[in-house]
Amino acid sequence: MAAARRLVAAIDQGTTSSRCILFDEKAAIVAVAQKEHRQIFPRPGWVEHDAAEIWENVRDCVHVALARAGISRHGLAAIGITNQRETCVLWDRATGRPIHNAIVWQDTRTEPIMAALAEENALGRDRFRQKTGLPLASYFSAAKIALILDGVPGAREAARAGRIAAGTMDSWLIWKLTGRHLTDITNAHRTQLVSLDTLDWDEELLDAFHVPRAMLPEIRSSSEVYGHAQDTLWGVPVAAALGDQQAALVGQGCLSPGQAKCTYGTGNFLLLNTGEAPVHSRHGLVTTIAYRLGDEPAAFALEGSIAVTGALIQWLRDNLGIIDTAAEVESLAESVEDSGGAVVVPAFSGLFAPHWRPDARGIIAGLTGYVTKAHLARAALEAVACQTAELVEAMAADTGQPFTELKVDGGMTANALLMQIQADLIELPVVRPSVIETSCFGAAWAAGVATGFWHRATLPDSLLGVDRQWRPVRTDDWRVSMMQQWDKAVSRASGWI
Ligand code: G3P
Repeated sequence: MAAARRLVAAIDQGTTSSRCILFDEKAAIVAVAQKEHRQIFPRPGWVEHDAAEIWENVRDCVHVALARAGISRHGLAAIGITNQRETCVLWDRATGRPIHNAIVWQDTRTEPIMAALAEENALGRDRFRQKTGLPLASYFSAAKIALILDGVPGAREAARAGRIAAGTMDSWLIWKLTGRHLTDITNAHRTQLVSLDTLDWDEELLDAFHVPRAMLPEIRSSSEVYGHAQDTLWGVPVAAALGDQQAALVGQGCLSPGQAKCTYGTGNFLLLNTGEAPVHSRHGLVTTIAYRLGDEPAAFALEGSIAVTGALIQWLRDNLGIIDTAAEVESLAESVEDSGGAVVVPAFSGLFAPHWRPDARGIIAGLTGYVTKAHLARAALEAVACQTAELVEAMAADTGQPFTELKVDGGMTANALLMQIQADLIELPVVRPSVIETSCFGAAWAAGVATGFWHRATLPDSLLGVDRQWRPVRTDDWRVSMMQQWDKAVSRASGWI
């Protein structure tokens, strides 16, 4: 007789790695497996991933996690997927092989297409903002799909004939797992091809971006059984998909309007649940879909997206070699009292919210002979905190309701120095939950709810506990002068190209 199904698997397909985390019914983590994939940089500003490599890694991670937990596929109640958003892949439906590397959300090569679309219309970059909640920016997927179609001989014709499929990473993984071509609404919306009114692919947008509808997946809710896994995971229900930032919102228990979280990952993403109606920003934030659980109405969110935060620490490690591990940045930055006047603006993909400056590039300002690698490490942490402070301010300006605290999660929240700088810059307590694997838990929970493993009304209490808080301790003068320096450096970085 098969063993009782007692764990839920979350697959987290992120920008730098793929992971699988197994949760038990109390939301305790039973096993984790992780594998990094190659970052392919064909030219400055271009970023690609090999989707076939990612699929192999995902499959390996699930099997390693199962082995570590000492169970077989029979012990799995469901699989939930959470993923880097906007990154898109096109594949041949007959062979199941990608026709090109996936183009990653950080890739800026579609900027000329965006600029041309903006030029044609009096609303400029806001041309589709009312309909989609998103500005015209290289960040979103639609033009990336068109670019692959136009770059691969015969692809456009094959796509029109329905022989090529397109999707974000959730869709690719659902296809590989179940053989079905589906996506969830949170991911579909980030293509910029979905209308906030209909929550479906929109003809005007498909036309404008030259994307044939025949290649797109069917849009489903974030929490339902999409199908059952094949091959070595035979029979396990694949029952949730959520963009990673939306999954973190769910995993932090932010299921009511007014609740917000900030995730510190490759980039930083601050999401505020605004309830059942979309709220349009006047301060550079985007309107996005928070989640749709089964048949319930969709919930919306305001989002502040920063492209480069954790990626800046990786860059210090991999490109400058001033630290050996990402964690070392904290002790190095702590060895000095301030940044020695240095300011880093990590505009590697231009600047996202709230500036939306595709013409910005990264700069290090304020250098003197006094500045050491320790000052640069500190400036890097300050850059993460300053960018996040801008989002908190924009969110308060949009809603007229300042936060009373900032709930945080993600890998960089292990950095206590960064969390203290953050609290000082926003003059609010920064609160880290006891489980910081919120994206994975959010996806697992949505899958568990869809399959009856958990109940909709209850998020396991263990997850919602507080691990640590940081209270602001610095003076107002310090904060004002930090933000003034930051603003000055941002204006230097803007218009660089
Ligand atoms: O929008 C991009 C975002 O989903 C990437 O997330 O966690 O891979 O940095 P992450």
